[in-house]
Order: sequence, then structure tokens, then C-alpha cells
Amino acid sequence: MKQMQPNQQSGNRGKQTLVSAETAWNKVLEELKSEKIKLAFYDDTVIPLLGDLKNKKVLDYGGGPGVLASALQKLGADVKEYDISEDMRNQAAKKLGAENIYHTVEEIPKGEFDFVICNLVLCIVSEDEVRRIVENIKSVLNEQGLAFIGFCNPKLFDVPETNLDLRPTPKHEYEQNHSYMKTKKEGGYKIIENHRPISWYEKVYSDAALVHVDTIFTPEYELNGRKIEDFIIFKLKKGDQSE
Ligand SMILES: C[S@@+](CC[C@H](N)C(=O)[O-])C[C@H]1O[C@@H](n2cnc3c(N)ncnc32)[C@H](O)[C@@H]1O
Repeated sequence: MKQMQPNQQSGNRGKQTLVSAETAWNKVLEELKSEKIKLAFYDDTVIPLLGDLKNKKVLDYGGGPGVLASALQKLGADVKEYDISEDMRNQAAKKLGAENIYHTVEEIPKGEFDFVICNLVLCIVSEDEVRRIVENIKSVLNEQGLAFIGFCNPKLFDVPETNLDLRPTPKHEYEQNHSYMKTKKEGGYKIIENHRPISWYEKVYSDAALVHVDTIFTPEYELNGRKIEDFIIFKLKKGDQSE
């Protein structure tokens, strides 16, 4: 695990940029491509969870510019990506090959994938879209398949500063679904985070008949006296799999 200084920033190209819609992430495409702290914590946590990737079919759902997908391809996986943004899909195609990109959800073959990863997507989309994405992920997993769905740890909603984010004082309780604007220190852009308690996501998974196998957090560090685990990753399988 690479160690980063708490206030280290990788650039400020995105300063003042606000990503307020799930389809507007192309505005910070370059910033996403050069995220270092996020990579060191999130990607380095999720990759070992997948084990031996040789010949495994992996879908990166909402994979953005294809940074993680490309790392998985290099590890021997047969990696496909879907992203709602055409600019992101074009960037990912340069890394993964155009034949490995799905342009619509409907193109993704059902029951096919050993692993579906979905990183930092659910916390930026509407509640209805969370439910649709979770259903889509379930439908494309094969019978033994596993999903790893991760995003910013909701428990951090009242932490003013982490290595990655600056947050305003919360106006709502942890248990209330709400949205707030936060600043990404890497890149300096602002995003709208949709906060939902962990139990809300667990109910969505169970409503979709996905079984919650495990919850993994990225490595803990301390900043300004607060213990911080930046990301939560849910490991899920289809409900009809045997133990
Ligand atoms: C914060 S970025 C994360 C990108 C990548 N997964 C990563 O870990 O770096 C969010 C991505 O989700 C995509 N996205 C947003 N809404 C989506 C949706 N409804 N379906 C698929 N992708 C979506 C955006 O275009 C963007 O590429």
C-alpha cells in the first residue's frame, strides 16, 4: 500500500468544476485518469479480493476511463466495461480495445460474468438508478459470480476532511438519505454525493435477491484525530447460489 501525505494533491485542473449530474463525469475525465490516492486505497484493496484473474470474465460497470479495468486486463482477465458516458467509453476503449466496451446496458450479456465490479457509481446516482444498476449487475453475473460494489464510506458523512475529500458540516442525520456537495482534493473538483446509510444499500441488495457475503473497508488511517476508512466495498452473490 502506497503511503500518501494527508494533504497531497495531484493537480488542480478541475478547480471550480462541479459534477452535479451522473452523466457529467466527462468534465473531470482527466482528473479521474490521474487519481493516485484513490488508486492506492481503492484499486489496491479491490484487486486482491478477486484472486486469480486468468481467463475470468469481468465487467466494470461504470468503469470511467478504464484505469482499474485495464489493470485487471493486464492480470489476465477478460475485461469488459460499460459506462453511461460516451467520452468515458471512448477513453476506456483506447485502453481495453473497442471490442470490450458495451455502449448500452442491453448489450451486456446476461448470466455471463464471474465478477462484476462497480466502483464509485452508486453514491452519485438517484435511488431509482441504484436499484436499476443493482438489478442489472445481478442479471449479468453467472451462477457462481460475485459482485464487488464500492463507494465512499457513508459513515464519513460528518468528517470535514479526509485524504480525499473536504465535506461541509452535515445538515442531516446519518440515517437520513440526503445529498451534499463535497470537494475532491485530488483534482480539486466538486461533486454531489448522495448519502444513504449502509443499511439502505443492504436492503436494496436483499430486495434484488443478492446475498451480502462480506463488507470490506479500505485501510484505516488517522487524520485530525479521526480514524478514517475511505471506501466501503460490498461483496455480493446471487441468492440462489449454494454456500
Ligand atoms: C466517480 S466515476 C468512477 C469511475 C470508475 N469506476 C473509477 O473507479 O474510477 C463515476 C462513473 O460512473 C459513470 N456513471 C454514472 N452514472 C452511471 C450509470 N447510471 N450507469 C453507468 N455508469 C454511470 C460515470 O460516467 C463515471 O464514469
